[in-house]
Amino acid sequence: MQIVNNIEELRSIIKWWRGEGHSVGLVPTMGYLHEGHKSLIVRAVSENDRVVVSDFVNPTQFGVNEDLSSYPRDIERDAALCEEAGADLIFHPEPEEMYSSDHCTFVDMDKLTKGLCGKTRPTHFRGVCTVVSKLFHIVTPDRAYFGEKDAQQLAVIRRMVRDLNFNLEIVGCPIVREPDGLAMSSRNTYLNPAERKAALILSKSLSVGKEMLESGERNGRKVREAILRNMKAEPLAKVDYVELVDAETLEPVNKINAPVLTAVAVYIGKTRLIDNFTYLV
Ligand code: PAJ
Repeated sequence: MQIVNNIEELRSIIKWWRGEGHSVGLVPTMGYLHEGHKSLIVRAVSENDRVVVSDFVNPTQFGVNEDLSSYPRDIERDAALCEEAGADLIFHPEPEEMYSSDHCTFVDMDKLTKGLCGKTRPTHFRGVCTVVSKLFHIVTPDRAYFGEKDAQQLAVIRRMVRDLNFNLEIVGCPIVREPDGLAMSSRNTYLNPAERKAALILSKSLSVGKEMLESGERNGRKVREAILRNMKAEPLAKVDYVELVDAETLEPVNKINAPVLTAVAVYIGKTRLIDNFTYLV
């Protein structure tokens, strides 16, 4: 497995692979990889001849007061995990390689990016769409892999690919959890032991909502209120949002008669965590 930090070098390797007739899968990440990322890489390896993992903490998707400088980084550990998962190449550029000092072109999206995480992170999806577009242009993959953990991101990327005619398939992969139910995240490393325990409130409250939907409740407001009530019982948790939205359009729903995404974002101390599930009616 190679680690490449230069765009031109990566392009020439991809050209070589294409000449050999190989299909190419891409797994975009910001590094500090865990089993959730690994599941995407393993899936990509099973469906493509060659797999590129991008490992890049993308500055344009962080707000001014967010954790860009403290975001955890460990390329050696990442390389070991990618190798074990069967990836062929890690693309690990410096920010200056991806963004010229006078970079001024962005990919932006209306509607889907305004609600949920977009409310507290108004410039986040512009940064995600921009960097993912750049990665698609650089790698030209046949398939790209994204986790359902970031459900809004997955919906936004699917829409961007459709709207801008990117010629590739987006593959969504299930959420990987710790044994006690906490969704794996690079940001879980910020939690102290008391916060780590408190963080279970996300998956626990979501399962309350899931049980209601499974036993036939179709009133979105009731499900939302039950989840909120459950969350308020945890003193270390500060709810950012609890929403039930249409799984494709991300528009809020009250009467549930199509696949519904129940998504939550909660501050545990200073750490903002997200989780979700989709219920297929
Ligand atoms: P990052 O947070 O590193 O996540 C990379 C990919 O791994 C995303 O598609 C995310 O949904 C997936 N992932 C993370 N935790 C997961 C889990 N517990 N189970 C399943 N999949 C999981 O998302 C980003 O980076 C960035 O926004 C990126 C798309 C790379 C653009 O910079």
